[in-house]
Amino acid sequence: MKLTADQLREKYLSFFASKGHAIISGASLIPENDPTVLFTTAGMHPLVPYLLGEPHPSGRRLTDVQTCVRTGDIDAVGDTCHLTFFEMLGNWSLGEYFKKEAITWSFEFLTQELGFTADQLSVTVFEGEGDIPRDDESIDIWKSLGIPEERIYALPKSDNWWGPAGTSGPCGPDSEMFIDTGVDCCGEECRPGCHCGKYIEIWNDVFMQYNKTAEGKYEPLKQNNVDTGMGVERTICMMNGYETVYETELFAPLMLKIKELTTIQAENEEQHTRAKRIIADHMRTAVFILGDPKGGVKPGNMGANYVLRRLIRRSVRYAKMLGISTGYTGELAKLVIDNYKHVYPELETNRTTIVTELTAEESRFEKTLTSGQREFNKVATALVTHKQTTLSGRTAFKLYDTYGFPLEFTEELANEQGLAVDRAGYDKAFKKHQELSKQGANTFKGGLADNTVATTRLHTATHLLHKALQIVLGEHATQKGSNITTARLRFDFSHPAKMTPEEKQQVEDIVNEQIKRNLPVKVETMTIEEAKEKGATALFAAKYGEQVKVYTAGDFSMEVCGGPHAETTGELGGFKIKKEESSSAGVRRIKAIITNVN
Ligand code: ALA
Repeated sequence: MKLTADQLREKYLSFFASKGHAIISGASLIPENDPTVLFTTAGMHPLVPYLLGEPHPSGRRLTDVQTCVRTGDIDAVGDTCHLTFFEMLGNWSLGEYFKKEAITWSFEFLTQELGFTADQLSVTVFEGEGDIPRDDESIDIWKSLGIPEERIYALPKSDNWWGPAGTSGPCGPDSEMFIDTGVDCCGEECRPGCHCGKYIEIWNDVFMQYNKTAEGKYEPLKQNNVDTGMGVERTICMMNGYETVYETELFAPLMLKIKELTTIQAENEEQHTRAKRIIADHMRTAVFILGDPKGGVKPGNMGANYVLRRLIRRSVRYAKMLGISTGYTGELAKLVIDNYKHVYPELETNRTTIVTELTAEESRFEKTLTSGQREFNKVATALVTHKQTTLSGRTAFKLYDTYGFPLEFTEELANEQGLAVDRAGYDKAFKKHQELSKQGANTFKGGLADNTVATTRLHTATHLLHKALQIVLGEHATQKGSNITTARLRFDFSHPAKMTPEEKQQVEDIVNEQIKRNLPVKVETMTIEEAKEKGATALFAAKYGEQVKVYTAGDFSMEVCGGPHAETTGELGGFKIKKEESSSAGVRRIKAIITNVN
């Protein structure tokens, strides 16, 4: 049976609705209230509290479509079916039905709704470990449905235990369903779970009976839950008889475009194919992360921001390999948005941000990629010639700091040359650098070059501006530099795009409103920890326990700062932005004046 992704989503949800499940909305890709993971990695993720026993407002049988990001398999991307972003169809029993219904419905859906035959199916179950026995119950259910014993594989925990999604939470033994693609086995050991391409996993029924505690103990849950996940991309790939997910309508326009943009003839066809798939996969993931309704993840150096940066930069590298010219990220992003906006309207809403951010990150990296690669090649060649096996942490850090190479990216380049990277050395170089910047920052902390009335007032205006920028543009708009003369202030801050006239006006209005409110400017001395606890913006790293001065302007702004400042905001008279321009990559610069300069 041929089926599109749209039809599959619809069929799945109606099938489970017909079995008494409430259709709920998928959650954001950025997890709420879960610091243990960077992205939503499975449909069960937003349901953790309910799997642990809290009542769900929609009842005990749920079904949905959840967008997921998983970067654990990033190295496998480029094969026929591994992806960093995918859509997961799921159905849940929150302490209601268990193995028999879950497996029976999975089988019914696969064979009666999707038209797979029992012959195409192989399944796996948990073989048992320690106190937890082999899952004979699932074996019997599969047998009763007509799957012969030789296609039911009992496998260890590494294969047939799912969860928790982060470091702790609900988990349990699972039973996975594979489609035999019909290609030959890769060897005697070949079985479902083997990555050779013979067996493609399309669905997983997890029997969530345990809670893994932070200490690593498995405790029985209050209730027996079912958590299932079916991959949209893989399922339609198998249904349509394609060899790879990239042939499905979810990727086809993207692959076509990448082919069109490619200008370098392939010497190694396989390598080129892999590169194209990596670009398509990473771009689609980046678009969904940037377009997420919760927003806020931009390319950067920490956590989810760093993952996004890695995906974009890795794609840029492969694009270069194919001779794809600059600006391709924006072009591909538009195709992804157009392909998905009827299902995920947030992509259309966030179209401008998505395209702007991608293009900005692409061009930031382009500027340094070639010279960085040259630097890498120089070092790598020398190491290989001298039969060395490790690239130093110092070099890896230089590639990061000067050329913007994420560590994992350098590792990948190094691995291609048979080299390892000294991670511990990298961490050390990183720490040393942080220490040095702190010292540098502390010298800067003193504040103003002169303490005339005009400069102190401009200094206060700078605090108001900083806060106003964060209100209007977002929390990311943090200070990158400041310079004050008697005539004007100059303020650098992170922001990826030119400010619109409306944004400038809003910022100006907010500052002027605070001036009109004539807020008292007060100073207090406290430790850096206390300051942070109170919510003060602390731009300069202070040592643990260090005493700092905290300036507040009424209820509006609070910053750790050396001062001095005006007595009240009213003194400033008025505030006007004279210029907004680029300062450096991802950093904007504002020049502004106050009307009461003397
Ligand atoms: N949570 C299960 C999985 O992701 C269904 O495979």
